[in-house]
Amino acid sequence: MTIKFFKESGPTNMNSASFTFCVPCLFGLEGLAADELRRLDLQDVRAEDGRVFFSGGLSDCARANLSLRCGERVLLELGSFPARSFDALFEGVRALRWEDWLPRDAAFPVTGYSLDSALFSVPDCQKIIKKAVVERLKTRYRLEHFPETGAEYKIRFAIRKDLVSVCLDTSGVALHKRGYRPAHTEAPLRETLAAAMVRLSRYRGRDDFCDPFCGSGTVAIEAALAALNRAPGLNRRFAAESWTCFEPAVWDRAREAARAAEYRGEYRIFASDIDPRAVRMAKENAERAQVAELIDFSVADAASFSRETARGVIVTNPPYGERLLDRRQAEEIYRAFGAALAGTENWSLYLLSSDPEFERCFGRTADKRRKLYNGMIRCDLFMYYK
Ligand SMILES: C[S@@+](CC[C@H](N)C(=O)[O-])C[C@H]1O[C@@H](n2cnc3c(N)ncnc32)[C@H](O)[C@@H]1O
Repeated sequence: MTIKFFKESGPTNMNSASFTFCVPCLFGLEGLAADELRRLDLQDVRAEDGRVFFSGGLSDCARANLSLRCGERVLLELGSFPARSFDALFEGVRALRWEDWLPRDAAFPVTGYSLDSALFSVPDCQKIIKKAVVERLKTRYRLEHFPETGAEYKIRFAIRKDLVSVCLDTSGVALHKRGYRPAHTEAPLRETLAAAMVRLSRYRGRDDFCDPFCGSGTVAIEAALAALNRAPGLNRRFAAESWTCFEPAVWDRAREAARAAEYRGEYRIFASDIDPRAVRMAKENAERAQVAELIDFSVADAASFSRETARGVIVTNPPYGERLLDRRQAEEIYRAFGAALAGTENWSLYLLSSDPEFERCFGRTADKRRKLYNGMIRCDLFMYYK
């Protein structure tokens, strides 16, 4: 059995060593997450279904956690190896240098998934992996029992086509949780997906930006964060900040660099919704994200949408009819919104919907469609930009 280690030296070299990291992301966002990693000057960026890999040091790990808009987590890969039996899984995990990462009091829960593999029972794999880590640490620490009272080092495994990847989760709470949205309306969009829609719209902070179905404000808030070039993770903490192997200065330096890279400018971002409660929540969320002064919020019916400016971009997520209204009502809204947009030919539009009849109701065929997932719901981003 070949076991691939991503660290050969002891803990003393950790701050200069290079590791492999894995960034899981929503299906459809891999290319965008890979672009973000390249723009952070990270090496060996490689996208696969649902995840992107890169190489780097611990300071790169801190930068990625702070800056990624479209990735869900940053996982540090400790090793990968083939395994078609529980014995192979156990041996592969036990061979990894857990003692370099986990202190005696570490809490180390195990979670993961298996796809297209002989080892398909996730609970059994979890138990085997836990046991293998305990066995390894027992001999290194000469302990029989691990209290797990200290910082959390969550172990995440992925088994795809009999290839096991074993990682430590450096993010903790998923990166889409930026910390600004405890309150939400009925169907909030995941922050990472909203950020991806903004990115796909090529909004650069110059033209008018509108979300006329803003709900809890996620799209407009992500647009404001992108316009400011503000790292979305600046107001939250990450699991690896409590790990002994990371020097605290690594995080301080990454935060300072992120703050120094921010832009200042005049932006015209508009967010509206027919529901006054949603608009109130959107404002509160924007205040928590510290971008409220950049966004003009109002209560308005998208059926009477109108703008005086000749150019601009609309990025929005109108109701689908699956969760909020029935489909016919949603389709009526698409019709009315499409009619209201007559006269905005120079505007580019990016509309997310799961309704296969969307274009017919809206009254225009999209220049391009992009398949995206809002949670479990398969959607298309209908793009109009010509
Ligand atoms: C799918 S949700 C948008 C969720 C939002 N992207 C978020 O992250 O919270 C659709 C929103 O459209 C709003 N809405 C429904 N009909 C509307 C209309 N005619 N004009 C404006 N907003 C409307 C609903 O109140 C709801 O907040």
